[in-house]
Amino acid sequence: MSEGKYSQVVIIGAGFSGLTMACQLQNQLKEFDYTIYERSKEVGGTWSANKYPGCAVDIPAALYSLSFAPHPGFSKLCPSQAEVLDYFHEVAKRYRVLEHVACQTEWEGAVWQESSRTWSVRLRDLVSGRVFHHECKILISAVGALVNPNSFDLPGVDSFCGEIVHTARWRDGLSLRKKDVVVVGNGASAAQLIPAVIHETKSITQFIRTPQYYVPNDNFDISAFWKAVFRWIPGFLLLFRFLIFVYLETAMAMIGLGQQGSRSRLVASSKSKAYMTGSAPEKYWPLLVPEYEIGCKRRVFDKAKYIPCLQNDRLLLTNDPIVAIQESSVLTQSGKAYPADTIVLATGFSLTHWDVDVRGRGNRSREEHWKEFGCIEAYQSIAMNGFPNFFYLLGPNSGRAHTSTLFAIENHTHLILRVVRPILEGRASSVEVKRESEVRYNQQLQSAIEKTVFTDSCGTYFNDSRTGRNWFIYPWSSFQLWYSTHWAGLDDWSYEATAPVESCLRPEKSLLQLCRCRIDSSVRQGIYHGY
Ligand SMILES: Cc1cc2nc3c(=O)[nH]c(=O)nc-3n(C[C@H](O)[C@H](O)[C@H](O)COP(=O)(O)OP(=O)(O)OC[C@H]3O[C@@H](n4cnc5c(N)ncnc54)[C@H](O)[C@@H]3O)c2cc1C
Ligand SMILES: NC(=O)c1ccc[n+]([C@@H]2O[C@H](COP(=O)([O-])OP(=O)(O)OC[C@H]3O[C@@H](n4cnc5c(N)ncnc54)[C@H](OP(=O)(O)O)[C@@H]3O)[C@@H](O)[C@H]2O)c1
Ligand SMILES: *[C@@H]1O[C@H](CO)[C@@H](O)[C@H](O)[C@H]1NC(C)=O
Ligand SMILES: *[C@@H]1O[C@H](CO)[C@@H](O)[C@H](O)[C@H]1NC(C)=O
Ligand SMILES: *[C@@H]1O[C@H](CO)[C@@H](O)[C@H](O)[C@H]1NC(C)=O
Repeated sequence: MSEGKYSQVVIIGAGFSGLTMACQLQNQLKEFDYTIYERSKEVGGTWSANKYPGCAVDIPAALYSLSFAPHPGFSKLCPSQAEVLDYFHEVAKRYRVLEHVACQTEWEGAVWQESSRTWSVRLRDLVSGRVFHHECKILISAVGALVNPNSFDLPGVDSFCGEIVHTARWRDGLSLRKKDVVVVGNGASAAQLIPAVIHETKSITQFIRTPQYYVPNDNFDISAFWKAVFRWIPGFLLLFRFLIFVYLETAMAMIGLGQQGSRSRLVASSKSKAYMTGSAPEKYWPLLVPEYEIGCKRRVFDKAKYIPCLQNDRLLLTNDPIVAIQESSVLTQSGKAYPADTIVLATGFSLTHWDVDVRGRGNRSREEHWKEFGCIEAYQSIAMNGFPNFFYLLGPNSGRAHTSTLFAIENHTHLILRVVRPILEGRASSVEVKRESEVRYNQQLQSAIEKTVFTDSCGTYFNDSRTGRNWFIYPWSSFQLWYSTHWAGLDDWSYEATAPVESCLRPEKSLLQLCRCRIDSSVRQGIYHGY
């Protein structure tokens, strides 16, 4: 990699968001002048970070795959982390994305430069420690949402003789064989890990805090026959993908607070409770069965059969909180000590991935921007007024709890490309969402969330504890997401022109290319701030 001081686009993060953006920049805009910076040693994001035993995708891969890179070869309906990562590498290779990636480079900050209409991006080479700058027209934050492990700091941590490992920082070759293992947490990560390792450990003590709704669920092998069908019968994989999409989308019925919502939640929670009480020992029922509304947190699809594992004598479940760590045990509030050779933190992720210092117009920080809005937010999850040419993928309130996250990533990529096309084609120098549009979107979003179960207090990481606002969830349906990213909102942007602009002022009528040349009328007047 050369010094790489300038490129049209800089993308931060080489997970599915960064990959999708890179592929579509090439596909749709024929833009090859981009660089991806990634702080890890390898690309893949979530799927390279989470190498704990048992890690797998829980949305069928026919849907949890990129629409422009269908893959008929998955061995299971919901394949393992390793297979998803292989798929990632395959797509990255096919699109020659890897040539654009600089790994082990951390993004530290970015400043908007009014004079040149560019971003100056501050980066640190994690190998040499050297700090350098990279200038670009368009800056894309694709840093993920579940990337920074929650910290774990209890008295005595330093005196512990064994290893303490977070599920998203699994050490290659770490074995739990014949070990007394402590697992902290009971989310999807813990529920995949425990069934995968229980048989080789000496014991597992699992510490939980808030119960989860575990949903009975199966995984299937995909036989050679079906793989062939997916590969050779035109449209079959696409049809299958669509059916899964529609099926999963029916879970949206569960999130509304109205009567229909209550009814479908009752059905879903009864099924989940029956599963837990039917498959786990009675002594654990009080620990397992939640009181909050189902759907408030992402449900745990129990494909790995964690709940039946609770029958195994090697596994002990407790909600007695750990208060201190000792050399080879953990001490709990009730005064008990539990043996520990290894402590596995399945404790989830912290809301720090947007802490990087980003400064827009007038040197205003993103923190100040959010303070003014009262919460973490972005127009359509992708942009903030005052931060021209800066976009998020998997940004604020783009999270999906019931379907494939890649749907949101792909569709937001599409929206971003619609918006930045004039910039990359040299017909405008900057684009920015209008302030009133961002305000209006945010009001609509908050009032939509108000009408859902996501306001129930279930202790989910969706809730930003500093503001009490949900920073994660997209409260509308996938159809709405699709519509709003493909068709709506063209008037919410203001462009600053580069001369000459006349050729661009006539919107093209072709529906599919609605965005091609559509530039806000303010460009004509040479005014870029639409407010
Ligand atoms: C264990 C696990 C299982 C999941 N399973 C599913 C599932 O079944 N279905 C589903 O829909 N979703 C699932 N998800 C959500 C998943 O995160 C998304 O589906 C998707 O992979 C997110 O892609 P991303 O590129 O946006 O983020 P990530 O994959 O997290 O990639 C972000 C990248 O940015 C890098 N980065 C972050 N900050 C910086 C910085 N400052 N400088 C440089 N680089 C940086 C990170 O190192 C990372 O590589 C799961 C998440 C986890 C943690
Ligand atoms: N494809 C999949 O199947 C899959 C696999 C893994 C993860 N994911 C997704 O990725 C996200 C993160 O999952 P995750 O399981 O890693 O994290 P998570 O869902 O946030 O779960 C973390 C769990 O740890 C508990 N916890 C945290 N600190 C604790 C402490 N000090 N003591 C006791 N318990 C503590 C939390 O309890 P509280 O609720 O009380 O805070 C929570 O139950 C989720 O959206 C999940 O659905 C999906
Ligand atoms: C922007 O603000 C930061 C923090 O207040 C300050 O350190 C920096 O010098 C400012 N930059 C400019 C160009 O004013
Ligand atoms: C929107 O997402 C869906 C599902 O991933 C995909 O089929 C569709 O092509 C996406 N639209 C675009 C333009 O990326
Ligand atoms: C969000 O967190 C705050 C602070 O911890 C809490 O007071 C509030 O009830 C939570 N809200 C929800 C909806 O969980």
